[in-house]
Amino acid sequence: MSPVRKLLSLATAVPMALAILTISELAQGKEVNKQTETPCARLLASPEAGLGGRLRAILKSGGNLQRLLGELHRQVGPFFSVKAAFMPDHLFFTSDPKTIHDIFNQTDRPDGSFTKDKRNILAVSSMAGANNLFTAPFETWKAQRQQLAPFFRAQEMRRPDYAALIEKFVTDKFSNLQPGQADYKQLIHETTLDVITRFLFNYQMKSDDLTTIAKDWQRVYQTVLIEAMNPLGQPIHDLPTVTEYQAAVKETLQTTGRVIEDILQRYDDDLAAASGLLAIMMKMRDPNRGPITRAEVRDQIFAFMEAGSESVAHVIVWAVHDILVNPDVQGKLVTLIHSGQTEAANEYINKIWEEALRLHMPLPLIPRQAVKDVVVSGAWGSYQIPKGATVVLDTGVMQRREDLFGVEKTGYPANEFHPEREVNGADFQTYAFGGGPRVCIGWMLGSLEARTIIYQLFKSFDVELSTPVPALKVTRLNDALVSPNEITLSPRK
Ligand code: HEM
Repeated sequence: MSPVRKLLSLATAVPMALAILTISELAQGKEVNKQTETPCARLLASPEAGLGGRLRAILKSGGNLQRLLGELHRQVGPFFSVKAAFMPDHLFFTSDPKTIHDIFNQTDRPDGSFTKDKRNILAVSSMAGANNLFTAPFETWKAQRQQLAPFFRAQEMRRPDYAALIEKFVTDKFSNLQPGQADYKQLIHETTLDVITRFLFNYQMKSDDLTTIAKDWQRVYQTVLIEAMNPLGQPIHDLPTVTEYQAAVKETLQTTGRVIEDILQRYDDDLAAASGLLAIMMKMRDPNRGPITRAEVRDQIFAFMEAGSESVAHVIVWAVHDILVNPDVQGKLVTLIHSGQTEAANEYINKIWEEALRLHMPLPLIPRQAVKDVVVSGAWGSYQIPKGATVVLDTGVMQRREDLFGVEKTGYPANEFHPEREVNGADFQTYAFGGGPRVCIGWMLGSLEARTIIYQLFKSFDVELSTPVPALKVTRLNDALVSPNEITLSPRK
């Protein structure tokens, strides 16, 4: 690690620890009834949530925000509010499945109580532009979503010709691989980017561009997107502006911008030649302004290239890792694939994928802002959230809760990877793709892409980790892998 990065990582960890230590209020949800509000139980004085408890929680989490939140939820409960010294407002956190479900469903509806968090939208706009499905203002987003959704409908994503296309794109990529050692993180990020760009935009990137963009997006993702999710706010999110990440953003915007321009230029003279999602994007209309501009189409393409490759790659990398460190799982998968039991192999990959999604969400903290005063409730009680306040949906924490997904309910510890785990019923719902009107538009496509990549990787190669026990390094703020784990690919004998 370079000295600058070392300094910056320290600089990032310190305010986070300071924020937690300077929390002036840490309170459980309070009961609200029609006449009176019962004040919340103050937990600062208790040994667990007091200074000592918080210090212990920080040490135990190793400075990783996601784990730290897990600790706080365990100590304080599934709904709490935090007010740190430098924060102007209270922040609310929940890992309660019903509360998470309700808030997702009350987001961005005409009569809803929540919207996407403004700070989050700003952070994404600075990279991906302000005119796409992630960042557009409510009315524009609604019109865009209506026009784009038919392409991603379930019956479309089940089309055999689509499955065949994705398979072809994956096998094309893998057939060009040289056996030997490979950085599988980079390999998977390149593969998802290649597949999504060919599938959505009928465009095959040059191999150099693929390598550059996949590399840069990983760096950007590990900082911008994850730290934008950071509920402690600007101090951490703003920090990396002088790091290499800034260079990565610049390079990404340049290279991706050039690729997108190339995609568009092919249709400048003949719009009718565009097909699939690109055709829909080019003909989209804004309810107030009419046909969308070229710049807006560019923003949309950028958002779909990014969203359609990064999140999927993040979970596949973990899924492959978890397969490789669990010889029983790898053995069963390889046997099913190579004995021609295709259906059983696909069912097993489904289970592997579901378990990887539960454990390794790319967006484990989803902030929502109240657009009016609103009461939220769950088994923990209820709470009056003031207009403008942010509630962070700790889906990542919720999906690892021992009481919901652990030994008693599923037969396996919640923190471990067990594809055999049966996850059913309302309490066990997972939110890797979000929920409500803002649910991920590409969830079926992402899952199709991921299942195909996992299947083809283990079909085409004997895969093993180059070092038996990988030295895993994860980011400070969530469990994104940052170490370039090497695998050895040998052609099947
Ligand atoms: C493993 C794969 C994926 C995961 C875990 C994932 C996760 C998510 C989540 C959690 C959200 C909601 C964010 C929020 O509510 O603030 C979201 C939204 C979105 N995702 Fe995905 N995603 C995946 C794959 C994809 C793919 C393949 C595409 C496109 C091809 C895509 C495009 C989008 C878009 C455009 C939105 C914004 C939707 C809106 O606000 O209307 N995602 N995704």
